[in-house]
Amino acid sequence: MSDFAELTLEGKSLQLPVVTGSENEKAIDINALRAQTGYITLDSGYKNTGATTSAITYLDGEQGILRYRGYPIEQLAERSNFIEVAFLLIYGHLPSQAELDNFSYQIKMHSLVNEDMRKILDGFPSAAHPMGILSSLVSSLTAFYPDSLHPNPTKEEVDLTIIRLISKLSTIAAWAHKNSQGHPKNYPDNSLDYCSNFLYMMFAYPTEKYQVNPVVVDALNKLLILHADHEQNCSTSTVRLVGSSHASLYSSVSAGINALWGPLHGGANQAVIEMLEAIKADGGDSKKYIEKAKDKNDPFRLMGFGHRVYKNFDPRATIIKKTADDVLGALGINDPVLNIAKELEQAALTDPYFVERKLYPNVDFYSGIIYRAIGIPTEMFTVMFALGRLPGWIAQWKEMREQKEPIGRPRQIYTGETTRDYTPINER
Ligand code: CMC
Repeated sequence: MSDFAELTLEGKSLQLPVVTGSENEKAIDINALRAQTGYITLDSGYKNTGATTSAITYLDGEQGILRYRGYPIEQLAERSNFIEVAFLLIYGHLPSQAELDNFSYQIKMHSLVNEDMRKILDGFPSAAHPMGILSSLVSSLTAFYPDSLHPNPTKEEVDLTIIRLISKLSTIAAWAHKNSQGHPKNYPDNSLDYCSNFLYMMFAYPTEKYQVNPVVVDALNKLLILHADHEQNCSTSTVRLVGSSHASLYSSVSAGINALWGPLHGGANQAVIEMLEAIKADGGDSKKYIEKAKDKNDPFRLMGFGHRVYKNFDPRATIIKKTADDVLGALGINDPVLNIAKELEQAALTDPYFVERKLYPNVDFYSGIIYRAIGIPTEMFTVMFALGRLPGWIAQWKEMREQKEPIGRPRQIYTGETTRDYTPINER
């Protein structure tokens, strides 16, 4: 096969290099296009645009394949834990025991947040959405660690920021929840592993002893692993784009959190449960909502169905569906909202509209169900997604800086008015 693609424009022929990835994916390198022809490419939503080369995550939406650094997601979800996967994504290899011990120890040692951060948190009303709190407090970390603003940080500085971010995000997330409840905040317990400590900070009360449930810890590890990276999605592209201006890791991740917040991205898991609640309040007729989703004059969409890249099945959804069944069974939960979820899933999987468009339940359809079962309030669902996605954002930011990528700056095709003269207000 040729290593060049030939493009003919206005009678002139141009050879554009073909780039081949390690899994044989093909791209046409158009870097020279504008300089040589004056043309740009137009691709709204970047559906066909590769913004970078990356060695972190491989995803094949047609085959339903997802691998982190070459390791299949199924194996990682089954046999690894979140902190080990975070190391893998960020540093590119599975850690030795010594590396993992050191990484875990460092994360524990940085779990406190400055007491002045509490004052910032106290300033938020209890009704504040925790995603807004999360992005604001992550951005505020720059004030407490001004060295992180160095535009060209050393490797040691980057490593320390990485540890701080992974460690403190879980404390900030749990405190955002406690703030919404108006309850006292729990300080981290460094005798616990990462997931157990997060659950402790979320759910322990000074008035009673808190027991960490191993079934819940296992489910949480799986959920966070499944969300840990997903190559160049909306929030990750945001992190890379913001970081490309040499903004700090804290600022870039804060921007990523905001991008994740939207209901078409990470906000979908919250939207799923809200949709199920609304169906229940409306009499529980899931068929009516299937019809609404199919009606092109109705803006309603089945939240948690469909995916930009998975057009066959979402491999994460397959793993998480089993986890959802396990958790619900182990906790003995019988929730009418979850029964509606099962009805919707069955109806959509057999309806020609959804089958023809390859619209399957995605990871967020089931993650919301598990979070609800383990007592995480709906508003916190997207925060849970952010906790999971953090290692991916960090790995992608680090790779972008190490590859010395130029500042991101797309072009456009202007469709507004051509030049016209200003008219004074009394002549308009
Ligand atoms: N319900 C009903 N119809 C749908 C849905 C849905 N959830 N999703 C897509 N469609 C239809 C859409 O109307 C279109 O139909 P037609 O070809 O007749 O015009 C067709 O399917 C293709 O949809 P699209 O909007 O062109 O697909 P997209 O790749 O641009 O959008 C999506 C992907 C995820 C934004 C979309 O499927 C959606 O809005 N889903 C609901 C929100 C959701 O669950 N998002 C979480 C994604 S997973 C988490 C993550 O990785 O961020």
